[in-house]
Amino acid sequence: MDRHRSRSPVTSSHHHYSPNKRGDNRRAKHCDAAHFTPTNHHWHQSSATPEQTPPRSQTLCTRREAYERAFPLYKQPVEVGCFSLDSQRRFFNDSRQMRYYVEPDRSPNFDLSDGYRGRYVKRDENVKEKLDHILRWIVANRSKLKSKLSPDASCPLDFDFVTWRGHLTKLLTTPYETREGWLLAVTRFNDTLYISEVETEAARRERENRPERNQEMMYWGYKFEQYMCADKTYSEPDPSGVVNTNEAFCTVVQTRLTDHKLLFSGEVDCRDKDPDAPPPPACYVELKTSAEICTPKQRSNFHRFKLLKWWAQSFLPGVPRVVAGFRDHDGIVVSVETFQISKISQLIKNEYNCWKPTVCMNFCCDFLSFVKREATEDNPSVVYLFSWEPHKDVTYSVHRDSQYSFLPDWYIKEMTCSGE
Ligand code: A3P
Ligand code: MG
Repeated sequence: MDRHRSRSPVTSSHHHYSPNKRGDNRRAKHCDAAHFTPTNHHWHQSSATPEQTPPRSQTLCTRREAYERAFPLYKQPVEVGCFSLDSQRRFFNDSRQMRYYVEPDRSPNFDLSDGYRGRYVKRDENVKEKLDHILRWIVANRSKLKSKLSPDASCPLDFDFVTWRGHLTKLLTTPYETREGWLLAVTRFNDTLYISEVETEAARRERENRPERNQEMMYWGYKFEQYMCADKTYSEPDPSGVVNTNEAFCTVVQTRLTDHKLLFSGEVDCRDKDPDAPPPPACYVELKTSAEICTPKQRSNFHRFKLLKWWAQSFLPGVPRVVAGFRDHDGIVVSVETFQISKISQLIKNEYNCWKPTVCMNFCCDFLSFVKREATEDNPSVVYLFSWEPHKDVTYSVHRDSQYSFLPDWYIKEMTCSGE
């Protein structure tokens, strides 16, 4: 795989985004100057002497218009490993939970409510795992991740950011989000920035008061996966089994967004079982459910809201397709359709004032630059808590030895080498 290829959301062609043809540094300065507030017009003067340096803004704007520029360099994500979580949420440094995609009928009539009241083991959402599984994976695979530049200097990782894919998905969709804010805790440790989500009070209240109907609809998504996936390349799906949402197969990918080297992990639903399928992540398939589309208004909403989330989630790790089950009010899947991620931006072209992939990626890129610039103290017990509410700017506060600290002692110890 060509690791130096940049990616466009529209096609796999990359000549528009060649890192050699664009002045990336110049562009980054220009965009920073455009919307860091309120002293945005001064921000690019970072080479000024200390007396001349104006106060830097400690907020980041999220308005869409500020991010409408050329698509940023995003290197083809490369899978560097994977891990599995079993039915009791135990970590394994292997692919034992991998599942295989089985093509269904076009109109399969799956009953997504089947088993909700007797064959459902739900992951305990009160347990906050933070980055623990990724950190376990890093420790288990440290030898292949060591910095090529300075292998001895207190074991730095050769990444600027370590996080979950889901946290990055939230960043990508932020300029278009009007309902749910977020809190992201950031710690700089050995010069890598770790980003871990903190549940907002509003999200916790909503989760604790989730109506029964919504709980059942959450189950529908997992039940669809069970209808569509087999445990072995040669077996068939088993809808008579238990749906256990502790189980997960996660890919770990590395990539680069302009000058940000990223390592992140995300859950993968299944893969193409053809042995001749391309290597991961290109063989992976994301499964989704959605309400059936009966009116032009429903189609428009699907394009504006659902496809944004689906695109962001799969584009990040380089998963090329989403297979969607459209269900009626009673949770019966009435049709199944495949969406190529590379074609989604074409699909939404006719929607008035619709979301744009370039805005999503540029906002994410600028948020990461903002974090790099502000989260300067290298200390595992310091958390920079970045906070955002719809229609507002991103702000942050700093916390020492607080409830927000999230790097576990075992990780800090493992990564602080003593004579290794
Ligand atoms: P759907 O995607 O079909 O809605 P994922 O698609 O990311 O693999 O997630 C699998 C399922 O988990 C979802 O199926 C949905 O049922 C549930 N789920 C994931 N994120 C959720 C969220 N934020 N709120 C409610 N349900 C969620
Ligand atoms: Mg899914």
